[in-house]
Amino acid sequence: MTLEGEVREAADRILNADEVTVISHIDADGITSLSVLMQAITRAGVMATPVFLRQLEPLMMHRVPKDDSLKVFSDLGAGQQNLLEEHGLAEDEVVIVDHHVSQEVDTPYLQVNALPYGHTKFSAAGAAYLVARAIDADNRDLAKLAVIGNVGDMMAREDCGLIGPAREIAGDGIEYGNVTARRDLNLFGISTRPLHICLAYSDETPVRGVTGNPQGARRFLELHGIRTRTDSGRWRVWEDLDDSERQTITSALTEQVVADGGDVEKLTAELYLFPDEAPQTALRNAAEFSTLLNACGRWARPEIGAAVCADDRGVALREAEHMLTHHRATIKELMHYILKTGVEELGAVQYIHVGDRFPDTVVGIGAGMALSKLNQDKPVLVMCSLPEDPSLTKVSMRATDRMVGAGLDLQAALIEAAAPFGGAGGGHAIAAGAYIPREAEEEFLGLVDACIGRQRTRGQA
Ligand code: C5P
Ligand code: C5P
Repeated sequence: MTLEGEVREAADRILNADEVTVISHIDADGITSLSVLMQAITRAGVMATPVFLRQLEPLMMHRVPKDDSLKVFSDLGAGQQNLLEEHGLAEDEVVIVDHHVSQEVDTPYLQVNALPYGHTKFSAAGAAYLVARAIDADNRDLAKLAVIGNVGDMMAREDCGLIGPAREIAGDGIEYGNVTARRDLNLFGISTRPLHICLAYSDETPVRGVTGNPQGARRFLELHGIRTRTDSGRWRVWEDLDDSERQTITSALTEQVVADGGDVEKLTAELYLFPDEAPQTALRNAAEFSTLLNACGRWARPEIGAAVCADDRGVALREAEHMLTHHRATIKELMHYILKTGVEELGAVQYIHVGDRFPDTVVGIGAGMALSKLNQDKPVLVMCSLPEDPSLTKVSMRATDRMVGAGLDLQAALIEAAAPFGGAGGGHAIAAGAYIPREAEEEFLGLVDACIGRQRTRGQA
């Protein structure tokens, strides 16, 4: 089948169903894919019920109802098709809308998955949007949610932003009018962080006197004639600046980095903004919107994120913003902890065990952020314990595009290394996770290291 064929068949099955259950993951991509599907399905007049799962694993399968509804799995399912079989789900009861590496099983479940067609920079929300558009071409307003899912899952490349089908979807949003894209300074917090804080804390490219130094960043802005407060006295944010002000700062930072012999490649990026959202809020750009949704998942309230995606700008938004504040503080703390404690270097990987200091739902995010500040030649592995189940350890791994280009595959390594202990793992070549028995930690680490070592040797051959 072709990807278009998969999309069409998924849409037809949904349109012909009496009732649908959408089962999705709790992170930003899971929440946006569920929201895209729920909105498209209910707009088509079909009844739909949402179910969020932290992971599709044996202990969670009881949450997948045993009823006559069509089960649409989004952002999960591809890698756990054996569980769907064991749950007794027949081929015609299931649609999988996913972007994870697929598992081979006897039942030929219908999947909308762009990965086998070579699209590695494409999230589940992207796949969900293709289905939504096939259900009704008028669903183009939902492209915005797919952009959030893609950005949340780090699908935008530093050099050129979203690519392939993810870029075409962003194009739908731009045409519809609720998305804009522009090349800009590579900053996080352009809508909510005071200018000097935003410049000081966006550290992808270190700038002397500015990075990590809010006072220095303030002086830098003043030196270039940029006001840091509005007439009414509130802090200005990056999105308040006009083109010429942004250009002034970008040029000045570029000059500074070049003068210090630094690399300006990551100083700019493509940013995605939402003109239909209120200015100076976390909903105004894709990076902050997706962080807000991740926060909802992390605090075990993904349904609040889904309500915000479905345009609830009342209580749900206030609760989500509250969770976002906590989430940002936790991630910051985790980053500090990893960098201060330091990682242990094995032959092919670098790892750290954070114990029960941080929830398992954030260690992967922390690992990804820490990696840019660690050894760039080895993937990072972070372990944490699960307070609710002390017999289990959660493992998260992150790599870089360059490592994956050289043949590294974290998903394959974790599946192989977890197998002898009955552990469950999955994900992508660049980001993967697993649960293993606690007593197997050391042996498991050895197996991961050996496996990554072999992948590296093969890559060099
Ligand atoms: O696929 P799963 O959606 O749940 O993965 C989420 C995590 O994987 C995100 O934190 C993201 O950072 C990472 N990821 C990535 N690059 C990919 C796919 C996922 O960094 N191509
Ligand atoms: O949890 P973390 O963010 O590290 O997950 C990275 C990727 O690995 C995600 O795509 C997640 O869905 C996947 N994963 C998995 N099985 C697990 C843990 C994570 O497929 N047991």
